[in-house]
Amino acid sequence: MAEQVKSEILDNRRAGDYHVLSLTAPGIAEVAKPGHFITLSMGGDETSMVLRRAFAIHQVQSRGVYGGTLDIAVSVQGRGTEWLAGRRRHDVVDLVGPLGKPFALPKQGVSCVLVGGGYGSAPLFMLAQELRDRGCRVDMVIGAATESRLFGVLELKRLASALTITTDDGSAGVQGRVTDVLDDALDRAGADVVYACGPMPMLSEVARIATKRRVFSQCAVEEAMACGIGVCMTCVLPVIGDDGITRMVRSCVEGPVFRGDRVRWADVHTIPDDAWGAPGNDDRGVGR
Ligand SMILES: Cc1cc2nc3c(=O)[nH]c(=O)nc-3n(C[C@H](O)[C@H](O)[C@H](O)COP(=O)(O)OP(=O)(O)OC[C@H]3O[C@@H](n4cnc5c(N)ncnc54)[C@H](O)[C@@H]3O)c2cc1C
Ligand code: FES
Repeated sequence: MAEQVKSEILDNRRAGDYHVLSLTAPGIAEVAKPGHFITLSMGGDETSMVLRRAFAIHQVQSRGVYGGTLDIAVSVQGRGTEWLAGRRRHDVVDLVGPLGKPFALPKQGVSCVLVGGGYGSAPLFMLAQELRDRGCRVDMVIGAATESRLFGVLELKRLASALTITTDDGSAGVQGRVTDVLDDALDRAGADVVYACGPMPMLSEVARIATKRRVFSQCAVEEAMACGIGVCMTCVLPVIGDDGITRMVRSCVEGPVFRGDRVRWADVHTIPDDAWGAPGNDDRGVGR
């Protein structure tokens, strides 16, 4: 169950091109799981920015005096994130969370490869720790356009059995994309599961490679969101259900984590003709 709190900013520090904000989140941090996200209102009391902005939960801590606290990694994109990056210690923001469905975790100690693109590696820290606690092998592949847009390299070296880094411009690690080295990483780990978070084209390719190799994949998508709580349908994408029927599902409540082989990546941002409820389709999802 999500809660809304007035959250105090405890810290705002730079990490490469990102800002890491530590926020009080009593009652939220304690129940958050890897893959959950929060939303924050932007711009203070007089703002014209009516929509909240979504951020993956990076880490959670229990700090006696504040109750639970959580960290997010912020990449400045537009007006909202620029405002947020400028907040200081003791500023207060309105926070709702935890939201969405988290990553599904294996019951046994399997071998996992975690793939993060840019700030997409932020939610993989909690996941890596949780998987390790369950006896899983955790290898990681993280990539970004350039070195300053890699997130959390030092800490991930500690968390992962093997860490492969890629950058588009070759400023760190292997020059290229995470998907260029994924086959090798899956071989090395003898992977049973791939977890991924990053831009949609990266997720699409990770899912394609995993499916081709018959490796189970889970992808945390970043679809534009307005309400974040399942009301507005801004965040829908086509996903194939257990019954084989494609439905437009809300990534804020049914996601953001989906099975990679179930998302129709090529049809994201469209309503496929054969989707349930699409124009020209009857109620059973059978095209006329
Ligand atoms: C589930 C989820 C998790 C996310 N996690 C992170 C994170 O950990 N760190 C981080 O820096 N960013 C994250 N984002 C992206 C972040 O929400 C957007 O960058 C932010 O909303 C942009 O707001 P803005 O006002 O700066 O930019 P603007 O471009 O001015 O935003 C205008 C509107 O578009 C929406 N929007 C714009 N870009 C995106 C985007 N890429 N995804 C979703 N909505 C967008 C905004 O919510 C806003 O309503 C996440 C998004 C989602 C959906
Ligand atoms: S963002 Fe409104 S339903 Fe998902």
